[in-house]
Order: sequence, then structure tokens, then C-alpha cells
Amino acid sequence: MNDQALVDGFDVNELTTAFLEDPFPTYRALRELDPVHRNKDGSYFLTRYADLELAYKHPAMSSDKTVDFKKTMGDGPLYRHHTTSLVFNDDPYHARVRKLLAGAFTPRKLAELEPIIERVINNLVGELRGRETFDLIDDFALVLPTEIIADMLGVDERTKPLLRDYSLTVLGGLETALTDEAREAGDKAVAEFGAYLQDLIDHRRKNPDEGGRGEVLAALIFGEVDGETLSDVELVHNCIFLLNAGHETTANLTANAICCLMDNPEQMRRLRDEPGLIDVAVDETLRYDSSVQLGNRKLTEDVDMNGTTIPKDAYLHLAIGAANRDPAKFSDPEKFDIGRTPNPHFAFGWGKHICLGATLGRIEGRHAVGKFIQGFGTIEPAGERERVLRARFRGYRHVPVRAG
Ligand code: HEM
Repeated sequence: MNDQALVDGFDVNELTTAFLEDPFPTYRALRELDPVHRNKDGSYFLTRYADLELAYKHPAMSSDKTVDFKKTMGDGPLYRHHTTSLVFNDDPYHARVRKLLAGAFTPRKLAELEPIIERVINNLVGELRGRETFDLIDDFALVLPTEIIADMLGVDERTKPLLRDYSLTVLGGLETALTDEAREAGDKAVAEFGAYLQDLIDHRRKNPDEGGRGEVLAALIFGEVDGETLSDVELVHNCIFLLNAGHETTANLTANAICCLMDNPEQMRRLRDEPGLIDVAVDETLRYDSSVQLGNRKLTEDVDMNGTTIPKDAYLHLAIGAANRDPAKFSDPEKFDIGRTPNPHFAFGWGKHICLGATLGRIEGRHAVGKFIQGFGTIEPAGERERVLRARFRGYRHVPVRAG
């Protein structure tokens, strides 16, 4: 299909399987021919780096989704969850929750987590060495973020295996076109995991000195900002958000990096020869194949977007994956280059809502990808990869791998 046909056929609410498999040709066509693309529902799809930069920095951008999510999600638990999490709110509520959460991501807290991360990954690589083939997702990439989030929230061993489905189902509720089936599954997942978290919160309130596990949960329950604490409903939904924010995204970072390296053997060889490049390689994966492909904002006044006036109340889709390959910002942007510096990508967003877990995600990526590559002499595909076909979150359901 030529570029004009890709642009003419594009609507964010009617995405094709071909787009979900590989959005990059469409991103390129939009960036070149229609960078401020108007969808049939009146929302706009932005693909240029400069336009995302403007959107992230502009004071007239709201993250509040109370009106827009009602149209697709209805009024049930899924809707209440997404509209209570900090990421889909403006200040002062957003700032209050962010301050409470920030205590869990200080350099000191992250330094405490790093040995745990290293231990989990070393054990995993050791176990996988005994197997000829395995699934990169279930047997490797998902294990570390599950352990870390479970640890932060105090989730027990019996519930850990349920976390991936909860996370996929609740995040699925954010897709641009939401089926009744997906909405019902989202409602059920929020209700079930929410009830589990409420029990944890009740237990922790009665046992405030129970140290160790569930540190973040305790900080959220007992923390105060300007004399205010979070209500139980706010607590539950922000904990569910933490699961979603830190689980699928980080697992996808690890698996996407290893897949990019398998697809670019010269880059795999370079990383083996120069293991010190691991942090740069992780950031290049974030740019080239970001776990989060789309962000959203809503305008609180008319805004001129490099020549196009976008009206107040318009909904913006920020195509992070497209901006991250904009040739106006990155040289040779379609090349996966593990030595790329500087690399000012938007994989973690920007501004007030910039990812609070970015450093943690990078540390997890560094150990998971670095130790995996160094742990095996050969790493190659052992069958067809299966993608999770979503527009917002990019990653695989299964990646069969042979390593030895
Ligand atoms: C590599 C993995 C990750 C990616 C690509 C990623 C991406 C993002 C992006 C793009 C945003 C901004 C959303 C917006 O602008 O509306 C965000 C926000 C956020 N992320 Fe991450 N994230 C990752 C890992 C994590 C981890 C590990 C955690 C915590 C355990 C986390 C916690 C958060 C939180 C709390 C926010 C909300 C910040 C706010 O609204 O002020 N993220 N993330």
C-alpha cells in the first residue's frame, strides 16, 4: 500500500491487524503527509516529535478522562479504576498521589531493590540453562516485574500467577475500540483484584508495623500530603495502576530488546563484545520498539499545533512510537543502533506525568537483558512469535526461543 493510501485508510478507532502487527509504515506516512491527523470522532493523532514535545510541555493539556472514558467504558469498575488512577487525573489530586508514591522510587529504595533484581535474574538464567527451548515471555521476561510489583504491594505467592491476566485485561480497557466482551472482562478483573487489595489494606491497617513486603502499600496507606491521606477507593485503584504501569511495560521492554537483538545479529554481537553498552541498548529499545506506543491529552483551550488550530476539548492521541522515529530528531531512525547517544525518546512520556518508574524500569531492563545475553552463547528463535495485538501497548504473548 502506498503512503497516501495508508493515510487515507487510517482512523484511530478502526485499526487493522496489519497496523497492530507493524504500525511503523503508517506512522511514517502520517508523519510525512498528515502529521496532525483528524479522526472521524473529532480527536487528533499526532506523529511528529516537535508536536508531542509541544503537547507534553503545553499548560493547556489535561489528563482528566472522566468524560471521555465514559463513552467507551460505561460506568462500572473499569471506568472507576482508570478515572481514579493518578495518570488520568490533573492536579491537585494527581500531585498528591504522585508525592505519596514518589517515596517508593527514591535512589535509596532503588538501591535496596537492585540486589533482589540481580538475584531473581541470576536464578532464572541458571534455571533456563538446563532447557533447550523456552518461552521468552512466560519463562523469563514476566518473572522479574511480577516479583518486584508483588513485593511492592505485598501480593502473596498464590495470587502472583493471576497478575498478568489482571494487568492485560485492565489495560485492554484503554484500547481505542473497546468491545463489550473486553469491557466486561475489565470490570471483572478490577472488581476481583480490587477486593483482594482491599483485604491487604485492611490487614495492613491492623498491622502497621509488619515490615518487609508491601512497602509501597504501607507508604500509600499511612502517608500524608498536607494533612490528607488517600481514601480506600483511591488506594485500591492506585495500587491496581501500579501493577499495570510496572508489569506489562517492563516485561515488554525486556522481551522487545531480546527480539530486536535476535533480529539484528550484528547488534547482538556488538553487545556481547561491549557489555558496557547495555544501558544505551535498553534506551534504544525504548525508542525503537517502545512498550507504550500511545499517550493521551485533552485540550483546555484552543492550541496552535505548528500551523493547525486544534479546538478546546479536542482529544489528542500522542503517537510516542512515531515521534521516536522522527528523522527530524533522530538520524537514521529506522535503524536499531545499540550505540545511539544521545537518545531523547518519549518512551516514558514527559512533563508532569513523566513515568515515575523510569529508573526502576531501566534497572530491571539492564539486568534482565544484560544477564540474558551474557548468560547464553547462542540465542535464536525456536518458532513463530505471537503478538498481543494492541495499539497502546506493544509486546508479545509468546516468543519461543532456543538458547544454549
Ligand atoms: C519500561 C517500562 C515502562 C514504560 C515504557 C513506562 C511508560 C510510561 C509512560 C509513557 C507514562 C506517562 C503517561 C502519561 O504521560 O500520561 C508513565 C507513567 C507512569 N509510570 Fe511508567 N513505564 C514503565 C515502567 C514503570 C514502572 C516499573 C513503574 C512502577 C513500578 C511505573 C510507574 C508509572 C507511574 C506511577 C506513572 C504515572 C505518573 C504520573 O501520572 O504522574 N512505570 N509510564
